[in-house]
Amino acid sequence: MTNAQTAQPTAVIVLAAGAGTRMKSSTPKIMHPIGGVSMIGHALGAAKGLDPQHLVAVVRHQREKVAGHIATVEPGAVIADQDEVPGTGRAVACGLQALTAAGAPAETGTVVVTYGDVPLLQTQMLAELVDAHERDRNAVTVLSAVLEDASGYGRILRSEKDPQDVLGIVEHKDATPEQRRITEINSGIYAFDAAVLNRALAQVTTENAQGEMYLTDVLSIARAEGGRVSAVVTEDRWQVEGANDRVQLQALGAEMNRRIVEGAMRAGTTVIDPGTTWIDATVTLEEDTTILPGTQLHGATHISRNATVGPDTTLTDVIVGEGATLTRVHGSGAQIGAGASVGPFTYLRPGTVLGETGKIGAFYETKNVSIGRGSKLSHLGYAGDATIGEFTNIGCGNITANYDGENKHRTQIGSHVRTSSNTVFVAPVSVGDGAYTGAGAVVRKDVPAGALALSIAPQRNAEGWVQAKRPGSAAADAANATGTAEKTTGRDAL
Ligand code: UD1
Ligand code: CA
Repeated sequence: MTNAQTAQPTAVIVLAAGAGTRMKSSTPKIMHPIGGVSMIGHALGAAKGLDPQHLVAVVRHQREKVAGHIATVEPGAVIADQDEVPGTGRAVACGLQALTAAGAPAETGTVVVTYGDVPLLQTQMLAELVDAHERDRNAVTVLSAVLEDASGYGRILRSEKDPQDVLGIVEHKDATPEQRRITEINSGIYAFDAAVLNRALAQVTTENAQGEMYLTDVLSIARAEGGRVSAVVTEDRWQVEGANDRVQLQALGAEMNRRIVEGAMRAGTTVIDPGTTWIDATVTLEEDTTILPGTQLHGATHISRNATVGPDTTLTDVIVGEGATLTRVHGSGAQIGAGASVGPFTYLRPGTVLGETGKIGAFYETKNVSIGRGSKLSHLGYAGDATIGEFTNIGCGNITANYDGENKHRTQIGSHVRTSSNTVFVAPVSVGDGAYTGAGAVVRKDVPAGALALSIAPQRNAEGWVQAKRPGSAAADAANATGTAEKTTGRDAL
């Protein structure tokens, strides 16, 4: 949500050059997902919400992978390469250089700096920071938080005379024991006056405990040249928390989910068990939807009004129509029509389209199949690469044999068709409107409209076969007990 009053920043620079070694992963840290979106995706989304003139991402570690990913999530972002000089100050300087090289130097207005590994940060928080910064005409405004355990963080140094006046930031490693007792920490998120930032960065050195160019040094430099430096303290520590390892990633993911599920409930979704309900940031739900326990909704999934999903259902990129019901379903890339029902124990694969009031029942697998309004595939089967018309009933255990070992072929089934149990459609094949099939039919040839397709040979009974061939068996004794005479020997019958 963008605050309408917030002035458009000149640029937002998102720092993402760090190595993230504590993740112990071949995937760059900032590409690890939480709530279904990469950490850098969340960070760029929050930044973009401010509607800056320029959005910059500073990269270095695993440069190609990271830059490629950023280009897919935020194609408008300028990629800036950090050189071999380490530190957050250097990273911002490289971001500014990239803008200059792109013919858009950030020399005036406000420049916001955020991190690529702080995924819960919202645009609203950044907007409040920028508002305070511009209202007070500050040179620098830093977003801070008060933590019980502040160790590791940079500490905010405030003037004793005027506590509103921030003197600077000292890094944990450079701090005195007394400074280490300060519990107000630097989140690493700032609003800078662009001119001050440019001037100050030119003066930042690597003379400190870590031999890095600290962005935090900009605060004391800005103050020394007469600028006002202040801090906005947030009480929502989750929004400024970064993930450095997988334990923190999980904690942030759980909190993000808690916020998403709570948001869904406030917007009209009944969630029976928030603890076992996982909803990606990208999922949308309408009012009066119900989510039962053990449900995970991912990607571009959308749940329409009055639909019920779960229990124990996982949907990825599934569009669920109004009033539809999905019970114990594992689905992806599917579209379920209004009033339709799916499950229990149903596997929907990509390309499944179920029409209004249709049904895909228990133990069905579907893929690349379009099923018309009111048609039902109620039990035990596979439907793939097929088109099924309206109000057709597919019997129990039907299978579309779509694969000949080399190629996939389509099955075409019309409207108002009735297929009997265990029908196999050997594709390519088509069944006309209103046709029927017999039990166990193997449909290899097209069936004209209104025909009954039978492919099974007439049944013969070899009477007395069991008594002749399995004498003394429990089956033979049972048959004998019925008093049925041995009319023929089994051998004769066959
Ligand atoms: C930094 C701050 C510290 C603050 C903390 C909050 C400095 C000097 N210190 O600590 O005051 O409390 O963040 O988390 O700024 N990055 C780059 N290039 C670099 C170094 C870092 O892009 O050369 C990026 C990282 O990818 C990361 C962010 O900057 O997203 C912060 O880096 P990190 O090393 O975690 O922060 P610290 O320097 O420990
Ligand atoms: Ca960090």
